[in-house]
Amino acid sequence: MVEETNLLYEGKAKKVYETNDPNLLIIYFKDDATAFNGKKHAVIDEKGALNKAITVKAFGWMNECGIPNHFVEENSGREIVVKRLKMVPVEVVVRNIAAGSIAKRLGLKQGEKLPRPVIEFYYKSDELDDPMINEDHITAFGWANEDTIKKIKDMALKVNDCLKEKFDKAGIELVDFKLEFGFDNDGNLLVGDEFTPDGSRLWDKETGEVLDKDRFRKDLGDLIEGYEKIMMKISRV
Ligand code: TMP
Repeated sequence: MVEETNLLYEGKAKKVYETNDPNLLIIYFKDDATAFNGKKHAVIDEKGALNKAITVKAFGWMNECGIPNHFVEENSGREIVVKRLKMVPVEVVVRNIAAGSIAKRLGLKQGEKLPRPVIEFYYKSDELDDPMINEDHITAFGWANEDTIKKIKDMALKVNDCLKEKFDKAGIELVDFKLEFGFDNDGNLLVGDEFTPDGSRLWDKETGEVLDKDRFRKDLGDLIEGYEKIMMKISRV
């Protein structure tokens, strides 16, 4: 039985604990919602429970698709057990449809299909508001080498193919999402962190309704209602 020991890190929407096994961590999903790097904040009952359930489903899908990831097992309540990784300090965003910052940056129409999936990198830094970076920054500052970047891009596209198909079956459009990667003790590159509607855009395929955290960011409607719809739809796939 994996047991929590020390709190290793507390983020805006998660807590990460060390455990009695040095190779395993526990992630606890909090009820907090933030946007604009924490400038907007609310505590939303049941958000943590839904994020946990959606993450478990998404890592299960990755396993079905043979994509290596850190998920080990569900724990009680809002917790999952994961492998301890040495994280690459880069957020990897994959986009299929124009929304959010790419629409603004490149003057694209919200909802416009991109010519092909586009990968972007952001440097993980709250003080700097996660600035966008390129591959040259990543290698120059030693955050990852070229070989790792190539593997990350390859895996990110595989995750995209896998999840796009699963969400499609659930009646949901996978607009974009953020992943993080890390190395396990044996030097294998794995998908880490989480997959939740906090870090992805998910639209109802039929109605176009926004079901993800943009409901909170842009005051589009009740957040939990959206997350519950996602959960209901994906539990059938
Ligand atoms: P963006 O359009 O704001 O750049 O966001 C792209 C995707 O990445 C979106 O699904 C939300 C996710 N994301 C995070 O998970 N964390 C962040 O800090 C940001 C800015 C975006």
